[in-house]
Amino acid sequence: MTKIKKVYIGADHAGFELKEKLMEYFKEKRMLYEDLGTHSPDSVDYPDYAMAVARRVAKKKNTKGILICGTGTGMVIAANKVKGIRAVAAYDKYSAKMSRNDNDANVLGLRGRFFPFEKVKEIVSVWLATPFSGEARHKRRINKIKQFENNER
Ligand code: RB5
Repeated sequence: MTKIKKVYIGADHAGFELKEKLMEYFKEKRMLYEDLGTHSPDSVDYPDYAMAVARRVAKKKNTKGILICGTGTGMVIAANKVKGIRAVAAYDKYSAKMSRNDNDANVLGLRGRFFPFEKVKEIVSVWLATPFSGEARHKRRINKIKQFENNER
């Protein structure tokens, strides 16, 4: 399994509080992360943070991204516009795990509002620990997405 070198983390105002908690958890776990903002609970626009994280993940090998907004959805929609990004919103361990195993997801979107931190920790841990299966059928499907991405204008 290729070791993750760094996790880029970003949030809007609705995800700010969870981002701070998650960074504490990463510190405890001695995980290397980089905080790309936002740095206060003041209202901001989620695409700015989604793009910042997604661009870095797309450029730097063996890195992953975590993006938090109110629901996780806006972040994922925005991040998926960046070439090479496969972003998913996960609200349970199973979808988090399978998004790595089958889809080789490289960005995880999390729900910052009305969601227990215990669950967040489980989702994040399983997502970061699960490798891509590398199975031929999954590679073939991901390659179809890549082909589309390369040819679409
Ligand atoms: C901000 O209020 C909210 O719309 C945003 O955090 C996010 O949930 C968007 O998808």
